[in-house]
Amino acid sequence: MQYKGVIFDLDGVICFTDRFHYLAWKQAVEPLGVYFDEKINDRLRGVSREQSLEIILEKYDGKLSSQEKASLCETKNNIYKQLLTNLSPNDVSEDVMFTLCSLKHRGVPIAIGSSSKNTRFILERLGILEIFDAISDGNGLTKSKPDPEVFLKAANMLQLPPDKCLVVEDAESGIDAGNAGGFTTVGIGVAASYEKSNYKINKLSDILQLKGN
Ligand code: BG6
Ligand code: MG
Repeated sequence: MQYKGVIFDLDGVICFTDRFHYLAWKQAVEPLGVYFDEKINDRLRGVSREQSLEIILEKYDGKLSSQEKASLCETKNNIYKQLLTNLSPNDVSEDVMFTLCSLKHRGVPIAIGSSSKNTRFILERLGILEIFDAISDGNGLTKSKPDPEVFLKAANMLQLPPDKCLVVEDAESGIDAGNAGGFTTVGIGVAASYEKSNYKINKLSDILQLKGN
């Protein structure tokens, strides 16, 4: 496959904030007594904050007003942001840094395509905000993954057609979004065992073996 640009999901691909999402949701919904485990958490990958809560509430017997839901989302985000303050450049793995630098060195433009509204905050804390040529994030998105909107925006920012870009994702919803948008999809982590991922990799630098440019 020949590609001219790469669009990376953030949480679970570039950094391991997926763990913080889990811990923050667990703490935020604890007062409801609703059952929540890591398996349910896997279904929240790539999904917006509001839709994540709806998935968690599938196991909840009571009914919440939209105000109560908004307040739970805010509580979750406050806990999450507190956890994010622990992030530093040390949280970018050598493999991730090597991959990003190699692509830059080869002249391949790179972008972020993440549902998170905290994307810029996270990239700043990691010290890698400037390395990306484009950032398409949860701010201003009208549809969450599996809709391809976030990736189409990223490709547009890179001025590349979707069929010339790789989308690297750890979420099944993200792979579905990439496929729906006409991208070549690469699954890592949970998505490495998803049958709809066009390519499956164990570590990020494996994408360097796929032929670029
Ligand atoms: C995605 C995560 O990257 O961002 C989801 O995989 C999360 O779990 C979504 O719900 C939204 O993130 P945020 O930071 O805007 O709450
Ligand atoms: Mg992810």
